[in-house]
Amino acid sequence: MTLSSACKFDILIIGSGAAGLTLALRSAGFASVGVLSKASLEQGATFYAQGGIAAVLDEGDSLESHIEDTITVGAGLCHRGMVEHVVNNSAGAVRWLLEQGVPFSTRSGAGASGGGGDLSSLHLAQEGAHSHRRIIHATDATGKAVFQTLRQRAREHAGIRLMEGWTAVDLITQDVGAGRRCAGAFVLDDASRRVFAVEAKFVVLATGGASKAYLYTTNPDSASGDGIAMAWRAGCRVANMEFNQFHPTCLYHPHARSFLITEAMRGEGAWLELPGGERFMERFDSRGELASRDIVARAIDHETKRLGEDCVYLNISHQPAELVRERFPTIHRRCLELGIDITRERIPVVPAAHYTCGGVMINRHGETDIENLYAVGETSFSGLHGANRIASNSLSECFVIAFSAAESIARKFAGTGFAGHCPAWPEGRAESGDDILVSHNWDELRRCMWDFVGIVRSDSRLKRAERRLELLRGEIHDHFRSHRISRDLVELRNLALVAGLIVRSAAARKESRGLHYNLDHPEPAPEACDTVIAPREHGDLLRGDQALS
Ligand code: FAD
Ligand code: SIN
Repeated sequence: MTLSSACKFDILIIGSGAAGLTLALRSAGFASVGVLSKASLEQGATFYAQGGIAAVLDEGDSLESHIEDTITVGAGLCHRGMVEHVVNNSAGAVRWLLEQGVPFSTRSGAGASGGGGDLSSLHLAQEGAHSHRRIIHATDATGKAVFQTLRQRAREHAGIRLMEGWTAVDLITQDVGAGRRCAGAFVLDDASRRVFAVEAKFVVLATGGASKAYLYTTNPDSASGDGIAMAWRAGCRVANMEFNQFHPTCLYHPHARSFLITEAMRGEGAWLELPGGERFMERFDSRGELASRDIVARAIDHETKRLGEDCVYLNISHQPAELVRERFPTIHRRCLELGIDITRERIPVVPAAHYTCGGVMINRHGETDIENLYAVGETSFSGLHGANRIASNSLSECFVIAFSAAESIARKFAGTGFAGHCPAWPEGRAESGDDILVSHNWDELRRCMWDFVGIVRSDSRLKRAERRLELLRGEIHDHFRSHRISRDLVELRNLALVAGLIVRSAAARKESRGLHYNLDHPEPAPEACDTVIAPREHGDLLRGDQALS
């Protein structure tokens, strides 16, 4: 579609994953909604989610238990009010998803259902650090089932426009009194490489995380931290950027760099082995393979470095072949294509960057520091995950906060108009950029983050990273200002900024806690504090619990 025919929406949602599509469906009844995706609609983390959605549905389980498990894994930094909000509303979100037609797996069979059904019919899986079975799933392809259903509902809705191939570059803001208001966004049309101003009464960042900052990741290419970077440039605070989650079990294979092997497989009894066949997790944690992700990922990192090995192995071949094929059809099929029959053979695995726990600071309604600018899903920092995210709480957060944000927008809607005049994007740039500079800097940045800001950090490694990133940022900034932009360049610029925020936050944390482990400060500090950073004009580094209420 041409943007000129639709350059004004009541609500502009940037991102078409679980968070963006949910918010679109919850608000299209009262507003016109535009949903942008920089690539095809499915190119977000949501489509690739395997394990499922955490919610309390079993009679033997309780909300208190889910709350306590979340807080324990979060290592002193979860905001209890936010944990309660998400946990208490997760079952309601699953009910809504069932009403939309998501074909979750039921108790009567491990395969996905045809949709419909009720909450009591759903099969519940086990994942690490959850003290009960409480993971609702659609075999091992939960995200795909959720995404396809929500996309279909959005396509059917007259009030929603889905737009692929449009990359938001920056937010448009205006000063109002002592604060700022968001009035829209500059958006790049991939095909023509032209930038348009899109006006909106409300703008929602639903752009996902920033795991692409690392050389090895489970995430799709879209995870370049665009929402965090745009919000930062517009004046929003970000928090806890040092907490990057590394998933312990990404497939180690030259032809499948980013393929996840779900934690739910360990929930069904798969164990981790060294190349010689010895199990090792009991040496690190009494919960063995079901310890929290930070512990399992660090144990694998430690063992591979100690032995000089490239990977460890995940073994589920002791379980009945039928169960493995039915419960994990996607993984079974993909591994078979690569020559590994998981019903008989071990799966080579390594840790890889998986989830961004920090992000744009929001309150429980998804509101940011800027009026009429919202952030939902992985791009946000709500305080739910603390220093480490427990498995399958991310999707729950996407749905619950999207519900709350839609309610907040609905409350303000009648009293909000368009801001009026939107500025034009500054033109006059050189025609084409230097592709080599862009691709070289992508690689350099991601390797630098992997080597110096990875699972195990130190003060000197962080310093090295800081110096290199500063240089890269300078080069990228000059290039961005002087050339006609492309999606690659927009993403690189954002990733370089977000990598800088990660390093800065990591350097400020003089302790080890949850996902952040620093050899020079191996113990947790007596008091747990969030790392909150504000753009310079709001004052520099602020530490302490300064989240929005
Ligand atoms: P995403 O789904 O990542 O969507 C982001 C969207 O924003 C995309 O449409 C993208 O194109 C768009 N976008 C980004 N930047 C721009 C821009 N500048 N302009 C326009 N569009 C833009 N969590 C769980 O709870 N359970 C699981 O089982 C689980 N499994 C996972 C498995 C894998 C392999 C991965 C990678 C993650 C998994 N997670 C899981 C995490 C979870 O999937 C994500 O946190 C969640 O899906 C994020 O949803 P989102 O809507 O915030 O963002
Ligand atoms: C997985 O299936 O292991 C991923 C679950 C998650 O990231 O929450």
